[in-house]
Amino acid sequence: MDKEKKKIALITGITGQDGSYLARFLLNKGYEVWGMYRRSSGDSHLERVEDLKGKINFIMGELSDYSSLYKVIKEVMPDEIYNLAAQSQVRVSFDQPLYTKEVNWFGVERILDLVKEIVPHARVYQASTSEMFGNVVQSPQNEETPFAPVSPYGEAKLKAHEAINRAKKEGIFACGGVLFNHESPKRGIEFVTRKITEGIVRIKLGLPQRETGKNFMELGNLDAKRDWGFAGDYVEAMWLMLQQDKPKNYVIATGETHSVREFVEEAFKTLDLPLTWEGEGINEVGKSQGEIVIKINPHFFRPNEINKLIGDPSKAINELGWKPKTDFKELVKIMIESDFTKLKKDF
Ligand code: NAP
Ligand code: GDD
Repeated sequence: MDKEKKKIALITGITGQDGSYLARFLLNKGYEVWGMYRRSSGDSHLERVEDLKGKINFIMGELSDYSSLYKVIKEVMPDEIYNLAAQSQVRVSFDQPLYTKEVNWFGVERILDLVKEIVPHARVYQASTSEMFGNVVQSPQNEETPFAPVSPYGEAKLKAHEAINRAKKEGIFACGGVLFNHESPKRGIEFVTRKITEGIVRIKLGLPQRETGKNFMELGNLDAKRDWGFAGDYVEAMWLMLQQDKPKNYVIATGETHSVREFVEEAFKTLDLPLTWEGEGINEVGKSQGEIVIKINPHFFRPNEINKLIGDPSKAINELGWKPKTDFKELVKIMIESDFTKLKKDF
């Protein structure tokens, strides 16, 4: 890309998992990258992007505040906007449904309104989600599958997705990437994959669990199935969507599904630790070398659960030339190795 004509990208949610991968990807593509972060009482939420200081521009902004978004967009004047910021935890959305809608739905309406006013040429990527499908019967899910969300998070994201479709009809280049679960060593510890890899590395090293302070970890529904990919692969798809001739929505997934239980088993295998399951329902336990290392805690169940998600990424493969590069085993291995290195250092 010519130095004088660098494209300007604005990433909201720069401090999150995807923001940190996307910023690196766009820097490599020669973009001038701006990352929007929100106010916090400390600097610790910047840890995922610490090494990007001096390479990208950081700007403070809040999705629930129209005037702050106005200032951000006026100052950055982006060519591309990647709206990754969100209250992204499904479980939390049951406890904070209105806040979740304020940020995940109205935040997007605010951005689209400002794009129309200030930068109508800008291309907009919206972080839509497989959570919008709910417990739909069609499997695997693709771009034609009807949405039927079962959580306030899914509902808010669907409203935002509809706003994106409306903006498209009004002439804005806006795309909704319907991404299935994607994970990495940078995944927040409150999501199940990272909770598992970090927790099992603690078991391997004989360290107490972060949450319980004891030698066992607690999980919720072991039988839920998700289509898990690697975040580093998925940010490329976000960029590709904005480089097309026409704005379209795409499903981004691996096309494979695995249960939480399978993820746990693969993580134990990766660390050469034995694992056996005993009991049923909330009394089920996971045992390793004679010790109980996993218990079920109903606190982690959801009022409404999605039992199985599996995506069909054919449209993205055919039209974007995108495909997932990291399979399930490799993903578990990458995450385990990263947690092992981190915890071993502190040990
Ligand atoms: P994440 O790690 O939870 O990051 C969310 C980001 O949003 C953080 O930077 C957070 O800032 C920021 N944020 C939250 N509320 C905000 C607000 N009110 N104003 C401004 N910023 C705010 O999520 P992720 O995994 O990177 O996911 C990125 C996006 O993709 C999210 O929209 C998520 O819903 C969506 N998505 C994710 C997946 C997945 O599997 N990862 C799948 C489908 C869709 P703080 O650091 O200050 O909290
Ligand atoms: N978080 C969590 N913690 N989930 C657990 C636990 C636990 O202790 N035990 C079992 N689970 C189950 C959940 O009930 C769910 O079925 C599954 O593990 C995955 O949970 P999360 O990792 O929290 O992810 P999610 O699928 O709810 O949501 C993620 O993926 C969506 C895309 O489908 C998030 O990244 C969303 O932001 C994203 O839109």
